Amino acid sequence: MLTASLTALALALSAPAPAAAQAAPSPTYSPPPASSGTVASPSSSPNAQWSTLLGNTLWFYDAQRSGRLSAGAYGNRVEWRNDSALQDGADYNVDLTGGWYDAGDYIKATFPLGYTLFSLAWGALSYGPGYDAAHQTAYLDGTLRWGYDWLMRAHPSDDVLFVQVGGNEADLAYWGGDGNIPQPRQAFPVNASHPGTDAWASTAAAFALGALAYSGSVWNTSGSVAPASLANGTYADLLRQHAESLYKTAKGTTPLATYSQSVPQIKAAYSSSGYGDDLAIAALALAAATNSSDYYHDAYNYYQQYALSGKRQVWNWDSRSPAVFVLFAEVANARPGIAQAAGLATNLTGWQAEAEAYLDSIVDGKQGYLTKGGLLFYPGDSDEASLNPAVAAATLMLRYAPLASSPAKAAAYNSFAKGQIDYLLGDNPMARVYVVGQHPNSPQNPHSALAAGGNNINNIRNDPPTEAYVLYGAMPGGPLKSDKFWDYRDDWVQTEIALDYNSNLPSIAAFQIVNGSADPFYVGLQAGSYTTPGGQPCDAALPCGSSLSAGAKAGIAVGVILGVAIIVAALVYWQRDRVARWRRGYRGPGK
Ligand SMILES: *[C@@H]1O[C@H](CO)[C@@H](O)[C@H](O)[C@H]1NC(C)=O
Ligand SMILES: *[C@@H]1O[C@H](CO)[C@@H](O)[C@H](O)[C@H]1NC(C)=O
Ligand SMILES: *[C@@H]1O[C@H](CO)[C@@H](O)[C@H](O)[C@H]1NC(C)=O
Ligand SMILES: *[C@@H]1O[C@H](CO)[C@@H](O)[C@H](O)[C@H]1NC(C)=O
Ligand SMILES: *[C@@H]1O[C@H](CO)[C@@H](O)[C@H](O)[C@H]1NC(C)=O
Ligand SMILES: *[C@@H]1O[C@H](CO)[C@@H](O)[C@H](O)[C@H]1NC(C)=O
Ligand SMILES: *[C@@H]1O[C@H](CO)[C@@H](O)[C@H](O)[C@H]1NC(C)=O
Repeated sequence: MLTASLTALALALSAPAPAAAQAAPSPTYSPPPASSGTVASPSSSPNAQWSTLLGNTLWFYDAQRSGRLSAGAYGNRVEWRNDSALQDGADYNVDLTGGWYDAGDYIKATFPLGYTLFSLAWGALSYGPGYDAAHQTAYLDGTLRWGYDWLMRAHPSDDVLFVQVGGNEADLAYWGGDGNIPQPRQAFPVNASHPGTDAWASTAAAFALGALAYSGSVWNTSGSVAPASLANGTYADLLRQHAESLYKTAKGTTPLATYSQSVPQIKAAYSSSGYGDDLAIAALALAAATNSSDYYHDAYNYYQQYALSGKRQVWNWDSRSPAVFVLFAEVANARPGIAQAAGLATNLTGWQAEAEAYLDSIVDGKQGYLTKGGLLFYPGDSDEASLNPAVAAATLMLRYAPLASSPAKAAAYNSFAKGQIDYLLGDNPMARVYVVGQHPNSPQNPHSALAAGGNNINNIRNDPPTEAYVLYGAMPGGPLKSDKFWDYRDDWVQTEIALDYNSNLPSIAAFQIVNGSADPFYVGLQAGSYTTPGGQPCDAALPCGSSLSAGAKAGIAVGVILGVAIIVAALVYWQRDRVARWRRGYRGPGK
């Protein structure tokens, strides 16, 4: 084991400069103007609109890049971006440049990145022909490598994993372009004396699924495969070794602890609620990547020990059980030999029952509910960034449907997923297309310091009046439970963008291409037909009655009450991203 770990380390340290498995298309793919979203696709395949959606949702990850932008296999596709944060890691003598900015601000956050890369790799594993047909495989490869190469640098030895870069008061108080990001930025590791079981395991799961996606072997859930040209045994080995090293550390380092307990300075960012689900998904992904029945045994034990069976929660960076259920079913289908060798009485029928009980509870309205406009809404989790839980559920349903125990169930999952995807893409009461730059009805004010072009933190909404750059492919937080959406740049609840929000969109688009689906809903939407709601939003970013225009109403309000409201609003506003992440980390009792 020691030898294996040292080999992993040596390989990591000698990791070559980023390479691509294949040449990028010529000409380079660049997003077309939003006006192209109203043009019906020709009947030829692949579908042109789904291909554009796939291209744009991957392009978004290029726009979020940190470090030296020319370092990637195909250079920098985003002409308004500049090199930035070139000293990251200097405080620990580690090169932590590169990677991605997590959301609308400039921190790098490893724990949610584990979910992001897991989701991107899972899509790659299954919808390869979609990426190939759309000529997006080179960009898929470039995106995965940009993320994984950074994660490898963030994992310089078995127990050390850097879980965050940036995030002190000065960082959180900065609003502006990539040229003036406050320096120096602090890096935060977990290690044997400050354990982060969840972060180690979540990162191991991402590496393991990446190893499987790059392995070139068929992951057959009814014939699904990764793009053939993604295969690279050298890279797959590298990813697997980091996965094994991290998993062994997560499993063997006591006491088990969440990273936010061990490194309390970063609690405000992505506070984690536990590690049982992370251990289970890591062991299971490793079983899939290695065919090892030992890992499978571990996965099953964690699933029992942490009572994951029957959990009814959203699928997101902090809540992995839904993916555990579906991945167990996929392993039973694609690699039945692993469970058999583990000597466990587990089989496809059993995992179908687990996965279907979970998905049925969503379809039957027993988990979350549908808004009047039809969006799957989880009270609490959907209060901020409402689209994310709905898109995640839709992705699981599309993925699981081919494994369903009956055609009727498969049809129900496909139909539910289609409803959520249609909502996302314009079939909603606002007639909004919730992907930036996709259609004239797309939001134009994503809460993104990179794209906004302003540096006035006291007037994020209107300074400048028009967002400087179009952040193509970005999915914003989304509407409130009323289905209403205010395209306010300062309202991070509705308009902030994030790596994890976007991470299932390429999979969805690639699925549609493989499926030969008709044009996305937005193609039929008339340009400019969207609704701008009256009144003001009432959410955690802009609490009720405390909008920034409140001054205008001061005369009719009771002075003292309004004053208090403004102070509260100002505090929440000042800490907006911090509060956002704290809230996104919130999970009710039961996890
Ligand atoms: C495979 O990946 C390795 C490691 O990143 C890289 O050095 C090599 O060039 C890749 N091979 C091909 C054929 O792309
Ligand atoms: C990149 O630098 C150019 C030139 O200084 C500047 O105009 C642009 O806004 C910068 N981009 C960002 C995202 O800050
Ligand atoms: C271990 O992690 C803690 C918490 O991030 C950090 O303060 C400490 O410097 C790390 N130890 C080493 C040897 O890097
Ligand atoms: C994949 O699964 C499908 C349906 O289950 C089957 O027809 C096909 O032969 C399988 N392909 C491979 C390569 O195993
Ligand atoms: C796991 O088993 C499958 C099916 O037998 C095979 O195609 C794949 O190459 C194996 N993976 C590894 C890492 O040995
Ligand atoms: C398959 O799973 C079902 C449901 O959990 C169980 O009743 C059955 O015994 C299992 N069969 C085998 C052969 O393991
Ligand atoms: C798959 O394509 C068929 C044929 O176009 C379509 O009826 C079906 O809705 C698509 N499935 C999904 C989940 O979108």
